[in-house]
Amino acid sequence: MIVILDFGSQYSELIARRIRETQVYSEVLSYRTSVEQLKQLNPKGIILSGGPNSVYDQNAPHCDPEIWQLGIPVLGVCYGMQLMVQQLGGQVVRAERAEYGKASILIDDPTDLLTNVEDGSTMWMSHGDACESLPEGFEILAHTENTPCAAIADHERKLYGVQFHPEVVHSVGGLALIRNFVYHICRCEPTWTTEAFVEESIREIRAKVGDKRVLLALSGGVDSSTLAFLLHKAIGDQLTCMFIDQGFMRKDEPETLVEIFRDQFHIPVVHVKARDRFLAIIDGITDPEEKRKRIGHEFIRVFEEESKRLGPFDYLAQGTLYPDVIESADTNVDPQTGERVAVKIKSHHNVGGLPKDLRFKLVEPLRKLFKDEVRKLGRSIGLPEEIVQRHPFPGPGLAIRILGEVTDERLDILREADFIVRQEIKERGIYHDFWQAFAVLLPIRSVGVMGDQRTYAYPIVLRLVSSEDGMTADWSRVSYDLLEAISNRIVNEVRGVNRVVYDVTSKPPGTIEWE
Ligand code: XMP
Repeated sequence: MIVILDFGSQYSELIARRIRETQVYSEVLSYRTSVEQLKQLNPKGIILSGGPNSVYDQNAPHCDPEIWQLGIPVLGVCYGMQLMVQQLGGQVVRAERAEYGKASILIDDPTDLLTNVEDGSTMWMSHGDACESLPEGFEILAHTENTPCAAIADHERKLYGVQFHPEVVHSVGGLALIRNFVYHICRCEPTWTTEAFVEESIREIRAKVGDKRVLLALSGGVDSSTLAFLLHKAIGDQLTCMFIDQGFMRKDEPETLVEIFRDQFHIPVVHVKARDRFLAIIDGITDPEEKRKRIGHEFIRVFEEESKRLGPFDYLAQGTLYPDVIESADTNVDPQTGERVAVKIKSHHNVGGLPKDLRFKLVEPLRKLFKDEVRKLGRSIGLPEEIVQRHPFPGPGLAIRILGEVTDERLDILREADFIVRQEIKERGIYHDFWQAFAVLLPIRSVGVMGDQRTYAYPIVLRLVSSEDGMTADWSRVSYDLLEAISNRIVNEVRGVNRVVYDVTSKPPGTIEWE
């Protein structure tokens, strides 16, 4: 295993993902992790991430200085390298010229860390500080026009540093560098594979659950679906999959989901049809947060009732993923105040908000995985591509894509419009070009003309975005042809719509969803 100590870089997770791409397991931990904890984990290598601070700031985060004496190879990235240099007796100062963006690295020592990295490779830089003098034992492996110490090493102690970010996709040769560190310097074996994960998870699930019953709330997304497969493989009919259909799913989705599980994979799903309850609970509600809150509470209520009816259950299975685990760890710390930083923009509902008196123990077999690893796993155990590659879909579903009041009529309209959007982009083979592509219904009417008739009907907004992780997003530059085709079909085929508009707002300042 490789441990990444996180100093608040936006790229810490990315480093972990890159390492896992080399089939070596890696975890992101807080920079406060003690040497004792590290010794227990027994990693083969440690990576110190970048971070927003300067090492000479008064409250700059520091790692336990005993790390340098552990005898475990360490690679410092950006802030991590500067910290290494400073703690070991070198000097870090504000750079004469900050470097942001691409830079060519000129290699002074093409061995070891930089084997197979081409001289002149483009690497991604983002720093305002630079190392002025190196600690004893260190030498320069590479420089750039502006940065004399772009890569450094103390070969004896196996301490390495790079000023650039090998983990980002723009860094050509970054992966080669990571492989050198992982395989040649840390001597890791490529044992982190899907097959190994499945085998180990099944063993762990069986050991944990024994002969007890497990309840899983299936949502139709890749996480809960993969979880269902994994659990079913491990414990067969000790698992109950429950799908709460609040009536806000996309066209045909609930039926397809239940059928796929039942017919293709022989996993029975309890299909709870709760549409009327959900519609009633948000009847007349127009405030987005109130709507979300009510749907969330109702979800929990239905879940509670149904789990009592079908139970008792000892365990609840949750599709918690690794980024959720990292986010709730002690990593997002404001260096000025020492407090955890978290900004709530929208309340996302999931079964995590269950009341305390529902005393389930949790099984979370996916908690070590990143989303792309879940997809890989889902595929390897036979999940249909339709589910594996499904765009993210919010828990409250279409209800938060109808602005204002949600009615039966509006749901029908949006479901049809949404279906057309997906059909058009799927037929063109561009579904995967988007992070999400969907329709939003606005609760206003505008005037139009169809045939010789004046119409007064709803507009549909098209929201097609690209994104890496949903945290930031850009509107997609699609062809006019596509917009035209979707617009034509929606106004012709969906009764109640006479206008289609395209949302050209990125996130920030917009959010991806409209509510
Ligand atoms: P926003 O709209 O905040 O969305 O830019 C970011 C990503 O999160 C998804 N999203 C949700 N997912 N429950 C979910 O499981 C929710 O309540 C929820 N709200 C937004 C959204 O679709 C996008 O991918």
